[in-house]
Amino acid sequence: MGIVYAVVNQKGGVGKTTTAANLAAGLAYLGKRVLMIDLDAQANLSAHFGYAADDDSDSLSMYDVLRHGKKLNEVVVQIEDSLYLAPASLLLSAADLELGGVIGRELLLRQALGSVIDDYDFIIIDCPPSLGLLSLNGLVACSRVIVPVQSEYLALHGVRQLLDTVDQVRSAYNPGLGVGGVLLCLYDSRRRLAKSVADTVREYFGDLVFDTVVRTNVALAEAPARGCSIFSYDPRSSGAEDYKNLADEVLKRGEKEGQI
Ligand SMILES: Nc1ncnc2c1ncn2[C@@H]1O[C@H](COP(=O)(O)OP(=O)(O)O)[C@@H](O)[C@H]1O
Ligand SMILES: [Mg+2]
Repeated sequence: MGIVYAVVNQKGGVGKTTTAANLAAGLAYLGKRVLMIDLDAQANLSAHFGYAADDDSDSLSMYDVLRHGKKLNEVVVQIEDSLYLAPASLLLSAADLELGGVIGRELLLRQALGSVIDDYDFIIIDCPPSLGLLSLNGLVACSRVIVPVQSEYLALHGVRQLLDTVDQVRSAYNPGLGVGGVLLCLYDSRRRLAKSVADTVREYFGDLVFDTVVRTNVALAEAPARGCSIFSYDPRSSGAEDYKNLADEVLKRGEKEGQI
């Protein structure tokens, strides 16, 4: 059965989508079958792999899964040999409102995953920058949360609230839910601030913080324009090295916890 990770932080611009894309691609390069799920109406993850979301497109998306009960495997597209994507749609921006009256609305993604979970080794969910219904669906459906934090002043702002939400979701819906790791992203080693933020984050979260740090690397920002992961775009970049190390570390942590 696949392990489900949700990449969550209610702050935007911290590296969630970049992490979802390149961690997934890194795991796929290690020979794992990986499904990425785009839960953000901005559809940055879908766009990263060349799937632009627009209102009038006929192609199916996670909106159809959550709103109309479409089967997840009808929505999934293949990106590479063992890398797959369930794209988002701009329509997801209305999901919070439209699903407001639906009983069990927080369980929709978990139910949808049931039919595909045996087909993949890993499922990686990219969440929107809020703790609304879509992120809640991600938290209910996953077994581990990955929390990217930007190596900037106020990095920890909001992370406590996020971890409180994780606790609440664990006791209300998902007893197996845990923190897979806090990931320092956009790390600029030339800046003293980055080092001091990293120290604070490690002091605060201890072993929860991944050893791997994702350095600021322009290739990571350029890869989406080519519609591919950092490993295809620039395999020799520091971004490729960092996300390769993250994929290794995620595998190791999973093995240590007996999940894999
Ligand atoms: N390590 C990095 N180095 C350089 N640019 C990065 C890095 N991580 C993310 N970015 C860029 O920063 C912006 C925000 O990242 P993104 O992953 O979209 O964050 P989020 O999904 O949390 O909003 C994007 O333009 C992305 O390409
Ligand atoms: Mg994003």
